[in-house]
Amino acid sequence: MKKEIFLATGLVLSICVSGSTPEKEPGRNTEHETVLETKTSINLTENFQTPAKVVSPGEKLFKDKGCTVCHQLNTKLVGPPLKTIATAYTNNKKGLVAFLKDSGKPIVDPSQASVMHPQIAITKALPANELDAIVDYILSIK
Ligand code: HEC
Repeated sequence: MKKEIFLATGLVLSICVSGSTPEKEPGRNTEHETVLETKTSINLTENFQTPAKVVSPGEKLFKDKGCTVCHQLNTKLVGPPLKTIATAYTNNKKGLVAFLKDSGKPIVDPSQASVMHPQIAITKALPANELDAIVDYILSIK
């Protein structure tokens, strides 16, 4: 009976010891390094896929304002690809600004205008420099 208790205690102890090993400092460091390495490789991959290595303020705003939910670079999602929009507005920055200020008409896919229209509430409320940055970003896509 006593032996059994000893055995059981020993088991519990060894479980506790092995269970707590990852909590020790060296274990933590290793985990941390792994996470950092993973992030670095993801960033590298993104840089290889995107010609612009630094994210422009316009691109960041385009993401932050939720536009990427419906617009991708080259693929149609809910909305037309940015490339299609950029082509439609070539040499027509004024027209694009006007559209996003709700004082222009859709020229890309007017049949879907009602899906895009609520978003214009966001863009027309932007400070001029931020709207300008988004427009420059869209037009920069080739
Ligand atoms: C809910 C999905 C959705 C979101 C979010 C969205 N769009 Fe759109 N967008 C669309 C659709 C659908 C169209 C096609 C209708 C059209 O051409 O007006 C479109 C068209 C456009 C056009 C072309 C307008 C034209 O002349 O036809 C621009 C420019 C545009 N979106 C910019 C933006 C910006 C900037 C944002 C972020 C603030 C944004 N969109 C967010 C769905 C979306």
